Amino acid sequence: MSQANADIGLIGLAVMGQNLALNIADHGYTIAVYNRHYQRTREFIEHCERTEPARERILAHGDLAEFVRSIERPRRIVLLVKAGAATDAIIDQLVPLLDPGDLIVDGGNAHWLDTIRRERTLAAAGFRFIGSGVSGGEVGARFGPSLMPGGSPEAWQMLEPVWQAVAAKVDPDSGRPLDGSAPGRPVSGGVACTALIGPNGAGHYIKMVHNGIEYIDMQLISESYWLLKQLGGLEADAISSVFRDWNQGELSSYLIEITGDILQQKDPAGDGFLVDKVLDAAGQKGTGQWTAASALEQGIPANAIAEAVFARSLSALKEERVAASAVLEGPAIRRESDTARLVESVRHALYCAKICAYAQGFQLMAEAQRTYGWRLDFAAIARIWRGGCIIRASFLQKIAEAYTRNAELSNLMLDPYFRDALQNGQSHWRDAVALAVRNGLPVPAFGSALAYFDGYRSASLPANLLQAQRDYFGAHTYERTDRPRGSFFHLDWPVEDRREIES
Ligand code: 6PG
Repeated sequence: MSQANADIGLIGLAVMGQNLALNIADHGYTIAVYNRHYQRTREFIEHCERTEPARERILAHGDLAEFVRSIERPRRIVLLVKAGAATDAIIDQLVPLLDPGDLIVDGGNAHWLDTIRRERTLAAAGFRFIGSGVSGGEVGARFGPSLMPGGSPEAWQMLEPVWQAVAAKVDPDSGRPLDGSAPGRPVSGGVACTALIGPNGAGHYIKMVHNGIEYIDMQLISESYWLLKQLGGLEADAISSVFRDWNQGELSSYLIEITGDILQQKDPAGDGFLVDKVLDAAGQKGTGQWTAASALEQGIPANAIAEAVFARSLSALKEERVAASAVLEGPAIRRESDTARLVESVRHALYCAKICAYAQGFQLMAEAQRTYGWRLDFAAIARIWRGGCIIRASFLQKIAEAYTRNAELSNLMLDPYFRDALQNGQSHWRDAVALAVRNGLPVPAFGSALAYFDGYRSASLPANLLQAQRDYFGAHTYERTDRPRGSFFHLDWPVEDRREIES
């Protein structure tokens, strides 16, 4: 019978699980690991033997009960398994082996409603549960992810030291990520990119919104690339230089940085740049869709985030698009002769649209806290996203500052810093969208973000007519501009002696 000699356990040894286990071990914790198929565990241990300084702190188990017994009580067990049924299945297997007070941490991309359900069920049975967003891909998991936990304060107390240790670190003043960790040599100092987000599903909800923002960030960057290529006639390496230049300024971010790298990459299988050979059909695993669906359900106008999801869906209709391109004509593309001007317009469009996209993401979280009874700290969320995660960007420091100035800010666009940025960039942004439209180039993210900006800043919208139409055909009533809000009227529109009735 094995003794309890591990500080923590981890189940699920796909790449994210392996890397998080190594990260935890690098921080001095002895970690027990288990995977459904032992072959994967064996390969992982062989890899550790060869290259990992923390190898002696990783204890592999082929039997789940033995794995559980090997962990010090109260136990902490991190799950990195596929979201959905696989997570429920492993929780069902684990529960009979646990003791009251033990903690399960789900680090997968779970749906927040599943997390709420699991937390409630496990708490009723005397167990603790945390649903934690883990962002940063494989490298993040290995050397410092951004971690977004949701659960009770008691559960968080058990996990906090580990999550603080393994999370990405940023400089507390500038918010810049502290890089430079290597196997066995974690970064020391700095502020950890983690904090308790709120109860039950709050952490997974925030991770989902992170992913929705990731979708729109990626779409905006792709539209920028497309305009520079189609209207500027620039080759991939020239566009790479533009992105590298942008990465020195207010757009500085991980996604801009990797775009600079991607556009430099030559095709290893032939001539030219690899990006030109990558098929233009984007995949998606679902978290962007969840974000858009949650926005629709709660009535929050996150149109740019939703457009980013639809843009992927439209891209995936590759064969249909190819067929349609022979039937449906658009204008001929006219190259812009002033490349510097084009680059400047696109840069501003990207920054302004990004502000709108984040404004939508934060509005969505603000509504979710009302819907689910959470209390979210938006400055803290922005701080957690400064390092480790896919959307990390210097911009997030500005968002943290905005919510520190005003925790009740109703929309990010109203903060003086962002208001001025929009004021400063909007004519370029409009030029970029107008150019795209005139040339028949689709820019759904630039365009929908602009429609959001113009809609939000409009004291009047044509919804008066829309509401009248609703009343005409469905007696849905309307409010009047010359009466207090909350008084509703109906007119028998089609009849001769029209009478307005207050309801
Ligand atoms: C992260 C990523 C990660 C994953 C996305 C990709 O934060 O580390 O967001 O969670 O890469 O889920 O999602 P799609 O496959 O839908 O693009």
